Amino acid sequence: MKNYNGHRLWQYVVVAVLALAGLVWFLMNITFFDTKSQPLAPVGTAVYEDASESIDVRVADLLSYMTLEEKIGQMTLVERNSLKTSSDIASYQLGALLSGAGSKPENNTLTGWREMIAAYQAEAATTRLKIPLLYGVDAIHGHAHVGGVAVFPHALGLGATQDAALVEAVARATARQIAAGGANWNFAPNLDQPRDMRWGRVYEGFSDDTELVSKLGVAYLEGLQAQRNAGEQVFVLGTLKHYLGLGDMGFNTSLNENYLIDQGVTEANEEMLRARYLPPYQAAVNAGALSVMVGLNTWGNKRMVLEKYLLTEVLKGELNFKGFVVSDWYGVHEGRKNIFGATVGAINAGVDMVMLPFDYKQFARHMRWANRLGLISDERIDEAVGRILYAKFALGLFDRKKSVPALDEAIEADERALARRAVADSLVLLKNDNVLPLSPSVDHIRVAGSAADNIGRQMGAWSLEWQGIEGNDVPGATSILTGIKAAVSAGTKVEYNRLGDFSAGGALADIGIAVVGEKPYAEGWGDREYPILEAEDLLAIKNLQMVSKKVIVVLISGRPLFITNEIESFDGLVAAWLPGSEGSGVADVLFGVKPFSGKLPVPWPARADQLPLGQGDETADGSELLFPRFFGVEVR
Ligand code: BGC
Repeated sequence: MKNYNGHRLWQYVVVAVLALAGLVWFLMNITFFDTKSQPLAPVGTAVYEDASESIDVRVADLLSYMTLEEKIGQMTLVERNSLKTSSDIASYQLGALLSGAGSKPENNTLTGWREMIAAYQAEAATTRLKIPLLYGVDAIHGHAHVGGVAVFPHALGLGATQDAALVEAVARATARQIAAGGANWNFAPNLDQPRDMRWGRVYEGFSDDTELVSKLGVAYLEGLQAQRNAGEQVFVLGTLKHYLGLGDMGFNTSLNENYLIDQGVTEANEEMLRARYLPPYQAAVNAGALSVMVGLNTWGNKRMVLEKYLLTEVLKGELNFKGFVVSDWYGVHEGRKNIFGATVGAINAGVDMVMLPFDYKQFARHMRWANRLGLISDERIDEAVGRILYAKFALGLFDRKKSVPALDEAIEADERALARRAVADSLVLLKNDNVLPLSPSVDHIRVAGSAADNIGRQMGAWSLEWQGIEGNDVPGATSILTGIKAAVSAGTKVEYNRLGDFSAGGALADIGIAVVGEKPYAEGWGDREYPILEAEDLLAIKNLQMVSKKVIVVLISGRPLFITNEIESFDGLVAAWLPGSEGSGVADVLFGVKPFSGKLPVPWPARADQLPLGQGDETADGSELLFPRFFGVEVR
């Protein structure tokens, strides 16, 4: 190769490549023109600090002081375990943190949570502007990741009650738990309208009925946000999720190779958009919703986070949503090769805050770069930050002087009583051959099944861990078996064997109660091609039938299961959904203390060929459902 001044060409190439790489690195990391911070008014005199000013005025004032870095920080949502050090909260001026499912302090009590979050807030308070953090949790059926709190039925069970006042009360209690644990933001209510029982998130929705979802979604939101002015400081920001159309994702369309439906594709159908998907959002936006989470699904051929039409034109424009749009877990970047481009696309589509949830340093770099290159405008950033600050002011975060009261024993007892009532009201009687309600003074009861003495199963997922737990290691909770034992007379003999193995013999029991159900699951891990009872539970039922005069089955599940072949042999069948920590609520209804009042929140298919269901109750193959939506036997 030719020599240039004694150097070979390849040496020039290496130097050039290194120089180019250095330049790219430089461009990606520097702040081109260091944004000058605006001088702050002396503490206590700035307009934004004045609680008597309107929120819009306060937002505009605060925004006028902010540097680009401070604004980008507000748009950043980080999972607490991703913090390299907690001082990064101040260094990166972070606006929001979350505890992802299962992410909890070592001392997993409300006190432990409070202390943990207070320490994060203290970091935020060391920044120039002292903007408080939003701290988000998935308290979707009570603050169920915390040990020892009352856990309510999952949303599908609440849907079976159709009772807006009850749902509002549950949400108020949940807000108290969240606030007592130091958080201020809940990723609920869920407005999905699940229409395919094979999906692993059916139980997170109230129903597939648009009107019922609107009614209960609004009730839940109002309950969470109710106590804003009560001086109790327990106003918790609600989040409508998942925008939009998750309940209609197609089977086998998931982008995630481990899943079947979750993170799948929703048909981009304008008619469905107007008739089904938007009404619950419109109702909840009108009721004061200030944050909306974008789903991990794809709308037609575009990821939802890139859907400018739906996020900006429809939600912020038509629906007149004043709050902020937050992306879901890793939703902007998952599976994307061009992380930078993915960020630019989502922000320009209308995402205001990114649940990264991992790499906040890269996000800050990319945002700075995109802004300097003119790919994300100053106006777009100001709009996003204005919306986030609007929610923070509305939440009262800047004005809170009093601390939140801890939950005392009396409140805790009230919450358990409320949860027990919610369980009782959520049970749906599907079959009754003159066996229910049971008499509490019956002589001999045999109990079996995987969910009879298993609080983990009755709580379902999003309880202590993302995928839930098995077993009874849950302080303060009551299993269904314990509830049954407490409900019967002193003279009643109650025997229990998980598999229904009562081979020690003796006379037939008067009643067998099989409490069977699904192992907990969350998200796509619960996608199943054919959801049925496990072999172990089928065996338990059979065994019980051999040693009991009559057998009733209590089904603990996050969705309808295929039971068409089995139901014939049951004397009674009760759908109890995922009732939560208060097993006594099940016993209250079985033994007639309370009536069966629940109605099916979703249709119950008879066989797989019927899926997916159509708009009404019509099935894919035209055959009859096992039970239609809103079915429930009345016992007089
Ligand atoms: C779920 C959301 C949840 C978020 C934060 C995601 O995986 O889809 O529903 O709010 O995680 O935990």
